[in-house]
Amino acid sequence: MEPKLQIRVQRYGWDAAAELYEDGWCDPLAPAQETLLKVAAIKPGERVIEAACGSGLVTKAVASAVGPAGAVLATDLSQNMVDLTARTCAEAGYGWVTTARMSADDLAVEPESFDAAVCALGLMYVPDPGKAALSMARAVRTGGRVVATVWGERRNCGWAEIFPIVDARVVSEVCPLFFASGTPGSLRRDFEQAGLRHVEEHRQRETLEFAHERSLLSAMLQGGPVALAVKRFTPETIKEVEAEFLDSVKDHRAPDGSYRIPGEFVTVIGYR
Ligand SMILES: C[S@@+](CC[C@H](N)C(=O)[O-])C[C@H]1O[C@@H](n2cnc3c(N)ncnc32)[C@H](O)[C@@H]1O
Repeated sequence: MEPKLQIRVQRYGWDAAAELYEDGWCDPLAPAQETLLKVAAIKPGERVIEAACGSGLVTKAVASAVGPAGAVLATDLSQNMVDLTARTCAEAGYGWVTTARMSADDLAVEPESFDAAVCALGLMYVPDPGKAALSMARAVRTGGRVVATVWGERRNCGWAEIFPIVDARVVSEVCPLFFASGTPGSLRRDFEQAGLRHVEEHRQRETLEFAHERSLLSAMLQGGPVALAVKRFTPETIKEVEAEFLDSVKDHRAPDGSYRIPGEFVTVIGYR
C-alpha cells in the first residue's frame, strides 16, 4: 500500500477506535507494556519521547517514573488518541506530560533532546518501521536509548486471521505488514540500521484473555486497527466477519465462554 494512504487509514482508523481501545486492550497488552517499561528502565528526572502513545497507558507509567523533575512528550498519529492521553495525564496530575500529533516516522523534535524514546505496540502500523527507528534514534542524545515493543510472529498470534477476514471485504489491505517487525531479527536490523548500538531483542509468549465473545469481538473489530473498515461495513457484513473470526479462534474458547488466545511480543532496545 502507498505509504501516504497507509498513514491516512491508520490515522482515521485509530480515531474511530480510540474510545473503545482501553476496554478491549488494556489487560491483554499489559504484560508487553510491562516488559517495555522494565527494559527501558526510565529514571527520575529523565526526558522521554513516546511514539504511538495511544490512550496513554504507557505514558502514565513513564510520567510516574520520570516524576515532576522530568518531562514526557507523548505523540501519536491519531488526534483522538492524543486528546485521550492529554486528558488522562492531566486528570492524573502529570503536569510534566505534553502531547502532540506526530507520525512515529517523522518526529518533529530537536535532535538529541531526549534521554529515551519508547514505542509500545505502534511500529506495526508505520509504513516503514526502519524510518520510525531512525526518527526515534535522532530524538535521543548520545548514550540515550530507544525501546520498542511489537507483536511477534504471526504463527504465534492466535487472533491473526482478523486481517485477511477484513481485507477480503475492503479495497486496500488494512495493515499489510503487521507481523513483519515481529519476525526474528527484523526490528533488531531496523535498530542497527538506524545507527543504534548494543541492540538486544526480547521475545515473550503470553495468553490474551477475553472474558466473553462480546469483549473479544469489540476489541478486535471496533477497538483496534480494523475499526475504520468495520465502521463502513453493513450490519450483514459485520455479522459475516464476526462469524468467520469466531470460527478462526474456536480452539481457544474455554467451556465458560471466555477466550484464551496465544500472543507473542518482541521488545527491542538499542543505544545511541
Ligand atoms: C495498539 S495502539 C498502542 C497504543 C499504546 N502505545 C499502548 O501501548 O496502549 C497503536 C497506536 O499506534 C498509533 N499509530 C498508528 N500509526 C502510527 C504512526 N504512523 N505514527 C504514530 N502512531 C501511529 C495509533 O494511532 C494507535 O494509537
